[in-house]
Amino acid sequence: MKLSKADRPLRGNVTIPGDKSISHRSIMFGALAEGTTRVTNFLRGADCLSTISCFRKLGIAIEENPAEILIHGKGLHGLTAPDSILDVGNSGTTTRLISGILAGQPFTTELNGDKSIQSRPMKRIIDPLSLMGADIESIRGNGCAPLRIRSAPLHGIHYTSKVASAQVKSCILLAGLYADSETSVTEPYLSRNHTEIMLRHFGAKLTSAGTTATIRPEPELVAQDIKVPGDISSAAYFIAAGLIVPGSEILIRNVGVNPTRDGILKVCREMGADITLLNENDENGEPTADLLVRHSSLHGVTIGGALIPTLIDELPVAALLACFAEGTTIIRDAQELKVKESNRIDVMVENLTAMGARVTATDDGMIIEGGRPLHGATIDSHLDHRIAMTFAVAALAADGETEIRDADCVQISYPDFYHDLNGLQH
Ligand code: S3P
Repeated sequence: MKLSKADRPLRGNVTIPGDKSISHRSIMFGALAEGTTRVTNFLRGADCLSTISCFRKLGIAIEENPAEILIHGKGLHGLTAPDSILDVGNSGTTTRLISGILAGQPFTTELNGDKSIQSRPMKRIIDPLSLMGADIESIRGNGCAPLRIRSAPLHGIHYTSKVASAQVKSCILLAGLYADSETSVTEPYLSRNHTEIMLRHFGAKLTSAGTTATIRPEPELVAQDIKVPGDISSAAYFIAAGLIVPGSEILIRNVGVNPTRDGILKVCREMGADITLLNENDENGEPTADLLVRHSSLHGVTIGGALIPTLIDELPVAALLACFAEGTTIIRDAQELKVKESNRIDVMVENLTAMGARVTATDDGMIIEGGRPLHGATIDSHLDHRIAMTFAVAALAADGETEIRDADCVQISYPDFYHDLNGLQH
């Protein structure tokens, strides 16, 4: 795909599609609940469709209507053995969360996904699930998918995770639904807490204190109506576009602003961004707001520590913003970027450098010297949706033409992304 510099300010409104993390969870928890769960503003991205297809194979009827998704849940013990391998596609969330559920089932399952999934670390869930008594193995013995999960009785554990990962935390808590006693997970920093909020809403006995979440087994989960807020990770591209294209003013509607996800807002504000929250609201315990974003002059910042899990998926676009900020930006404590859909440290450095930025990879992040103009280049997305979207925004503020390879990979989390971005240029 070829993109050119914006020849005028970006103006108008954009309504962001549903949150990916919350959409996945709505299907999973709906499947384990008694009764019919109704989900509106569900994200029809490829990742969430992978979750739907897996649960259909596990015997759950899921109706996809234009306005809503209906999940006919069969309770905690209603899943049935699939007749073939579960295909998780490109989705780390599907893989890790479903593994926690499958560990508690009285049948064997195998799951596998695309090339990216087959290189992402699964030992981080295999280890805690094994401590609970689960029978889970990496079929090729390399700590990655494909995975085989057999029936085994589960015991409650108190697990201290080395990584602040909502996928690891959620996997263990979901296995905890099927354990013989309480299970808790402590993480170094609090990661996104959508599992805790939504499971509680469905009736789970789950408590949170600091960075520890604790679940008691065998609740009766009850079907719910879920309205999925817009995904702040998708909104981040429009925030960035509004901030860096001169004269822009964009209203981004109905964005989830859960404090475990809003690190990008904090970082942008610290950089000097003009962002106003309007219409603050709440959807089933998930805070939402409209974001009014105006072009701003930015300055460099340091991003690290507890902030990192709250903007982990936004770090690529934060690195782009740093190129438009005066001074140096340091991103640290972000080793996790290396094990996302691509190695996002290497891929960002490669592509930003191609556009003329001064950026260096470090062991746990990047150092960006801002204030140098970017020019168009050929960008390799490495089939990573967040890289493709970051550079589509970069193209709007770079001289000349930018070509993005495998630009279609945005269908993972935001199928209409280019259409919505174009909509602000008229
Ligand atoms: C997600 C958690 C994050 C995030 C991913 C979605 C989730 O991963 O990067 O896109 O839905 O739980 P980790 O929790 O492994 O960091």
